[in-house]
Amino acid sequence: MTAREIYLIGFSGTGKSTVAQLVAAQLGWLAYDLDRIIVERAGVDIPAIFAREGEAGFRDRETEALRGIAGGGPFVAATGGGLPLREENRRLMGRVGWLIALEGRPETLLARIELHRNQEAPDAVRPLLDAESPLEHLRALKERRQPVYALADWTVHTDRLSPAQVAEEIVRAAAILQRSDQLRRSSAASSSSADE
Ligand code: S3P
Repeated sequence: MTAREIYLIGFSGTGKSTVAQLVAAQLGWLAYDLDRIIVERAGVDIPAIFAREGEAGFRDRETEALRGIAGGGPFVAATGGGLPLREENRRLMGRVGWLIALEGRPETLLARIELHRNQEAPDAVRPLLDAESPLEHLRALKERRQPVYALADWTVHTDRLSPAQVAEEIVRAAAILQRSDQLRRSSAASSSSADE
């Protein structure tokens, strides 16, 4: 099966939600935002979920939301920054689609998060970034997660790109990944027919 599901992974502020919509529009696929699905299902926002159920409760909700969409492509899904930390989530996404990581320097990400908070969503608190020295906290948290983000099939560095440019890169990456899947499948098929 050729993957027709793209999962955007990466830290907060890399632009996953905006870019997922742009890529989906270009490919004519659906766009999902797992954080939004979780909030709609819970009926309360993410800080309230963390306050009520702790991070573990939120992570369980993430896995449940992922299971709800996985395998039903074609779509492009924006995932929360911590979702790929669970191996179960990574395996599921890897089985049915491609993982594309969006990267950015800590300074870039913090600036985007603050801009978003000031301009668009003053109540958009990210519980894991609610720290006294946000840049240091972000840097440390991101560093711990880096080995997981590095497992993606493709990575786009977003620091110097607009969301539209990031989307273009992803559409290009998806075409390359699709060709490489096709080659792998046809070489697997010819080696299995040679075995017969
Ligand atoms: C989180 C990132 C958030 C959201 C939650 C936890 C994380 O999503 O899922 O606050 O663990 O990094 P974004 O990556 O969209 O900010």
